[in-house]
Amino acid sequence: MSPVEQWDEKYRPSRLSEIVGNKEAIGRLVEWVKRWGSDPKAKRGALIHGPPGVGKTVAVEALARDMGLDLIEVNASDDRSRGRLERIVGEAASGASIFGKGRIIFLDEIDGLSPTDAGAVDYIAELISRANCPVILAANDAWDPRIGKIREKCELIEFKRIGIREAVPFLKRIAEREGIRADPEALKILAERNKGDLRAMLKDLQVLSSRGKAFTKEDALRAARRDRTDTIFNVLKNIFSAKSCHSAKIAMSEADVDHEMLFEWIYENAPLWLSDASDLANGMEALAKADLLFNIAKREQNWGLISYAIDLMTAGVAMSRERSRAGWVPMKFPERIALMAKMRAERAMRQRVLGKIAERCHLSRAAAGTGVLPYLLEIARNDPGAFKGLAGWFGFDAEEVEFLKSLIGAPGAPGARRPKKG
Ligand SMILES: Nc1ncnc2c1ncn2[C@@H]1O[C@H](COP(=O)(O)OP(=O)(O)OP(=O)(O)O)[C@@H](O)[C@H]1O
Ligand SMILES: [Mg+2]
Repeated sequence: MSPVEQWDEKYRPSRLSEIVGNKEAIGRLVEWVKRWGSDPKAKRGALIHGPPGVGKTVAVEALARDMGLDLIEVNASDDRSRGRLERIVGEAASGASIFGKGRIIFLDEIDGLSPTDAGAVDYIAELISRANCPVILAANDAWDPRIGKIREKCELIEFKRIGIREAVPFLKRIAEREGIRADPEALKILAERNKGDLRAMLKDLQVLSSRGKAFTKEDALRAARRDRTDTIFNVLKNIFSAKSCHSAKIAMSEADVDHEMLFEWIYENAPLWLSDASDLANGMEALAKADLLFNIAKREQNWGLISYAIDLMTAGVAMSRERSRAGWVPMKFPERIALMAKMRAERAMRQRVLGKIAERCHLSRAAAGTGVLPYLLEIARNDPGAFKGLAGWFGFDAEEVEFLKSLIGAPGAPGARRPKKG
């Protein structure tokens, strides 16, 4: 029996028009290639970044085909030491091409360059500057400190996770071509589970529907879930128990959350891992410094600082572990993230209510907050009937009325203070 063809290969798009999602990013890439070399201020390289399985590699291949350009491609499975790179792309980068067919050099998965290949990063940075054709690179994490030198020379183009609204019709077409009756609900579950990774969706669809000619909700629910929480726990474990700075930093590259999110995870779990008080103090010190650097980096758009922040939050935390006891430690989800979301929602609700008061009373929102809201709450507290009438007059909906009632219940909440009795 011949081996079964994998669907992610079988349905690999070969034209840009067949690629699902990320239209804007693809448009920017096409524009960048078209304009390459004509604008001296434009970046000489392009770095496509984004999570796995969203079409970064296939987009570049399809672009070359659509534009009739030769693609000189080097991917992670090739030997990418400096010497080898020079041999593969060196000639292509300097060869005359004005009269021949145009070309593109494509270095895929560059965040997978091995750390011992420091020479390779330098070489690629040089290559981008001197190549006489566009150089496109792809990576999962554009902020990987190892590729800082390369990033500086590149236009950054982000590929996002494929949304359900785009993924489901795509999966439906594949199912039709395979003669599988697929329940649209089941496809939705499949898409949700794989969080925008189209390659993973195709693999799941193939495996789960292979036994029959149908793909049902039960099939989708039975799906072996690529559990993202599981991965992040492993990443944390590897960071916290790292024996060297280097292995702590490497552990981070396994994470499929961005560095700010990872910071929250480390921050939340450091006290559980660093059971010794002085270890914890050192770990928190490193995190505080990292936080500071992240903020400065953002405020001043000085992205070079990010790599120091990442070192501090990974290696810095790992190295602060000296006396803490070893062994298995339960981990928890970052509460700050849940709390931040809740606070954001409350702020938005407060603004909504103040907006209505402001409009009805011809005041600014700020004035509504200080001059009307406290009295309205006082009325709500003492005279529910009158409050109901006022709520109608202000046009509050049920959700807003609930929100106001919750403010009465919360001492210390804005406007919840009782005026002092004279
Ligand atoms: N946007 C897309 N449109 C159509 N097919 C896609 C898309 N994204 C992924 N695929 C399918 O998934 C396979 C893998 O896509 P691709 O190799 O381009 O992903 P990638 O973003 O480069 O991932 P990685 O970061 O793992 O390299 C493709 O062969 C194709 O079958
Ligand atoms: Mg790829």
